[in-house]
Amino acid sequence: MTFLHRRLAAIIRARASYRTHKMALNTDHIKWFRDSSPYIDAHRDKTFVVCIASDALQSENFPRVISDIALLDSLGARVVVVFGGDHQVKAALEATGSNWLQGGGQRITTATQIEAVTSVLGQMYADLSARFSASTPESPAKRRAITTSTGNFIRAQPVGIKDGVDHQLSGLVRSINEGAIRHQLSGGSIVLIPSMGYSPSGETFHLDVDVVAREVACALSADKLIFMTEQTGLKDITGNLISEIDLSDTRTGDVSLEPLTEKLLSHCDQACRQGVARCHIISFATDGALLEELFTRDGCGTQVIGNSYEQIRTASIEDVPGILKLIAPLEESGALVKRSRELLESEIQQFVVIERDGLLISCAALYDYDTSGELACLVTHPDYRNSDRGDRLLDAIEKSARANRLVELFVLTTQSAHWFTERGFSESSREALPAGKKEFYNDQRSSTVLRKALRD
Ligand SMILES: CC(C)(COP(=O)(O)OP(=O)(O)OC[C@H]1O[C@@H](n2cnc3c(N)ncnc32)[C@H](O)[C@@H]1OP(=O)(O)O)[C@@H](O)C(=O)NCCC(=O)NCCS
Repeated sequence: MTFLHRRLAAIIRARASYRTHKMALNTDHIKWFRDSSPYIDAHRDKTFVVCIASDALQSENFPRVISDIALLDSLGARVVVVFGGDHQVKAALEATGSNWLQGGGQRITTATQIEAVTSVLGQMYADLSARFSASTPESPAKRRAITTSTGNFIRAQPVGIKDGVDHQLSGLVRSINEGAIRHQLSGGSIVLIPSMGYSPSGETFHLDVDVVAREVACALSADKLIFMTEQTGLKDITGNLISEIDLSDTRTGDVSLEPLTEKLLSHCDQACRQGVARCHIISFATDGALLEELFTRDGCGTQVIGNSYEQIRTASIEDVPGILKLIAPLEESGALVKRSRELLESEIQQFVVIERDGLLISCAALYDYDTSGELACLVTHPDYRNSDRGDRLLDAIEKSARANRLVELFVLTTQSAHWFTERGFSESSREALPAGKKEFYNDQRSSTVLRKALRD
């Protein structure tokens, strides 16, 4: 073999290996994109309040945080960014030989210091607006102008005198002009809110950034309140990351948290109680943390969920695409009979669904035949099985059957007979089916027929 042949063979091998590597990469991207598409649908038109801690702005990763927030905006989410500048204000005060006084564990902002606060936060607003407008190659602003806006949305009142110490121009949130924020959001702006508020007497107050974010999220009944902090999420006392905290779970009280994280959890708790669907605590220093948290099943930080997290409800016409997506793999595998979109649309009121964070993860249907009801299309998405969702749907179907004065339920199944027999169903026969169902029994499927009497 000549040198030329060897060289040519090496090039062909290198190209083949590059192609294999590229194909693997593409396959990863395609899979990631497919997996995240339900979240893209679920987050459209939803309101997200993102709270950025003051040290985030000095992080190397901050340009990517901005880019990821801009991407959220491009995907149709309504984004409010609440920001504070404690580090920057402290540095500005120190440069002039001034110090931030503390009283009762709280910062005291004096009349002269408030000038540094307004100047730093004003500068930060300008800096953030400039960054959102910057047209970097990876930024959505390259293809679409992103607008930011702000305003005097926060009405404040003084903290007042605590333990004998006057907190001067350190303030509390008194109210939020949520209508004005919504107006800006519906105009397509990313709304930027500094941790400042104004009193009816015309004074400016310095506020706690986490509290402002929480109150804004509550006033807007936001879908998500996201704290971007130095830490990757909430940690337990041994330093392990807690990926999910369900506030409706009574065992949550048993978790021992790091003291620092308790304050954040208490903000999340209050927000969830006041109608925020879910809170997240993620790191501003980790590249892509916002996207990973919002567009993947497992996320990367801590999500805090309130009671409103998972809903079981009657389906509506808007649920048709979600149900079709949920049942498609089972129709393909033959576990369920195929339903066309048209049929599903016409029968949608027979379905109940479980929705989790905007995604349909379980469904079931009830069809009436005189005094019998057919339980059909009971499905839980594979990622969410074995957490009693099937049981909850069966309960809901049974309740609805009783309300319709049905005396029994029956089901036709090819692969889940045991699931039903363990829940009080017993084997029956095709002959026992109601007339309207018997004539459509599919011999090829040879489904097992099971029945359950409904007692009051
Ligand atoms: C059957 C199904 C709806 C259960 O959903 P789910 O949300 O996981 O239900 P639950 O959490 O209430 O029940 C889980 C239990 O059922 C068991 N189970 C799941 N599928 C089963 C089956 N085919 N046969 C026997 N047991 C089964 C699980 O092992 C688990 O048992 P455990 O509690 O002892 O750990 C789900 O497995 C599914 O979607 N299957 C495919 C669709 C199907 O066949 N539907 C029925 C025909 S209409």
